[in-house]
Amino acid sequence: MAHSHDDFAASVAVRISGDVPLVQAIGECKADCATHGIYIASGARYMGKREVWTGCPDCKEAQAAAELHAEAQQKAQAARQRIEAMVEDAAVPARFIGRTFENYKAATQGQQAAKQIVQSYAEDFAGHLKRGTGLILSGLPGTGKSHLAAAVLQSIMPMHCGLYTTCMNVIRMVRGTWRKDSDKSEAQVLHMLGTVPLLVLDEIGVQYGTDGEQTILFDVLDRRYRDMMPTILLTNQAKQGLKDFIGERSFDRMAETSRWVSFDWESYRPTARKEAA
Ligand SMILES: Nc1ncnc2c1ncn2[C@@H]1O[C@H](COP(=O)(O)OP(=O)(O)O)[C@@H](O)[C@H]1O
Ligand SMILES: [Mg+2]
Ligand SMILES: [Zn+2]
Repeated sequence: MAHSHDDFAASVAVRISGDVPLVQAIGECKADCATHGIYIASGARYMGKREVWTGCPDCKEAQAAAELHAEAQQKAQAARQRIEAMVEDAAVPARFIGRTFENYKAATQGQQAAKQIVQSYAEDFAGHLKRGTGLILSGLPGTGKSHLAAAVLQSIMPMHCGLYTTCMNVIRMVRGTWRKDSDKSEAQVLHMLGTVPLLVLDEIGVQYGTDGEQTILFDVLDRRYRDMMPTILLTNQAKQGLKDFIGERSFDRMAETSRWVSFDWESYRPTARKEAA
């Protein structure tokens, strides 16, 4: 009897020695996964002896997803360690560790709105990372800008790599590379600041921005803008003041990609002192 080509290939594949098939399908059966319930398992016999049944497909998928997740976390962790070796501030400065969305008290409507915007930003950080969209938190000192920015960083880690730093520190870091004995190059520092998945830049506009400082800031913000990397800017300036400080070109890029959040209430610091007393 004439075999079809496929039959012939199959019989070559499974019959390596004698008449014992290497792999032989032995049918399907219902199986019960403790987590996912009933599924159809298919069985195979290897070399005429060992029986193997397929496991729960949902468990298999969950395990693959968990492995991917763990791998992404490890990568983010390794990236953060490389970055922290470069920067004086850690990813979240010590005084902001433990400052979370949960312990941010939203007493007024303005505080509630700000918290809601910043928290939902953190919850959809993966989306913002894709679109390169950021936030500008603007308001007087003590209104909780750094608190909420630290809450974002803590909630996206360890899945994503983020960095908190101040405007002054960025300028100091870049200028530090101009020294002859610097162990890193300006290009390395700018690359790191340009590529970290979330950059939180605090204390913009605390001091007067010189042309040289504006140039450095523009370099960082423009890289992030071009590569669609999200940035959170924190400033005690209103729109015009921020524009004067970072320069019009940087301001336009930020305005295009960032949501402006005004923190227009009184400083929390007197309350914090009362709570501590
Ligand atoms: N709404 C709030 N609920 C709880 N703590 C707050 C709140 N706003 C500010 N704080 C606390 O007050 C202090 C000053 O806030 P901070 O975030 O540093 O202000 P900003 O960065 O706007 O100057 C911090 O200790 C912060 O945790
Ligand atoms: Mg602050
Ligand atoms: Zn299962």
